[in-house]
Order: sequence, then C-alpha cells, then structure tokens
Amino acid sequence: MSMMEWNDNLVLGHSRIDADHKRLVGLINQLSDAMAGGKGKNVCGHVLDELIAYTRTHFAMEEQLMATHRYARALDHKTEHAKLVEEVLDFKSKYDAGTVTLSVSLLRFLVEWLTHHILESDKDLAQAIPPG
Ligand SMILES: [Fe+2]
Ligand SMILES: [Fe+2]
Repeated sequence: MSMMEWNDNLVLGHSRIDADHKRLVGLINQLSDAMAGGKGKNVCGHVLDELIAYTRTHFAMEEQLMATHRYARALDHKTEHAKLVEEVLDFKSKYDAGTVTLSVSLLRFLVEWLTHHILESDKDLAQAIPPG
C-alpha cells in the first residue's frame, strides 16, 4: 500500500499545480518504498534529495504565480513554504551526518504537511488565480 494515496479531493483545478502535487505524492511514495524495501542510505538519500529539489521547484512556481497575480495572502503562504524547506534541509543535514535516520514518523509528517497545505493554502491560491 502506498504511503499517500492520490485522490480527487487533492485536485485543485490548476493543471500545473495539480501535476506538481501528483509528482510530490509520487516522490513521497518512492521514498517510503525505498525505506520499506531496506534500500541503502545512498538510494534513500538520493530519493530524499529529489523530493527536496522538486519541492523547492514547486514552491518557486507557486510563488511566481502569486507574484504574477498579485495574490493577497502571498506572505503567509511563502512563510509556510520557507518553514518546510528549512525543516527538511535541517533533517537532510542530520541524515547526511548520520545523527538521524529515515522513519515512518518523518514520512507521516510529510504526508500530513502536504495534505494540509494542499487543502488549505494551495486551494486558496488556486481559487484566487485563473486556472492554468
Ligand atoms: Fe503552496
Ligand atoms: Fe503546492
């Protein structure tokens, strides 16, 4: 079973945002599978890097949309993005240093963060801008 199931509730009606979210869910599942499959630190670390890189690209894309459409709640939304990036980079540096390991609780945190962020903040953004 996948760590995070994609479902219609998560579809916001903005094609680029939705496509990115689907890919992020896929990467979380890939990370979960690598971890559950007992893949080594290199493989897991590589998937984690990919997840971090894609998350940053996605956040930058949303923030560009906010700027283009003069989205009123950009500041709060960007703060949420920045906090997550900070936390995940902090985790990654500890992971690289060997002081933390991947865990189900980290994956659950990512699933909960993403679900909540999509259903609240990204939904609000998608409703405020033209579908694209
Ligand atoms: Fe967002
Ligand atoms: Fe998003």
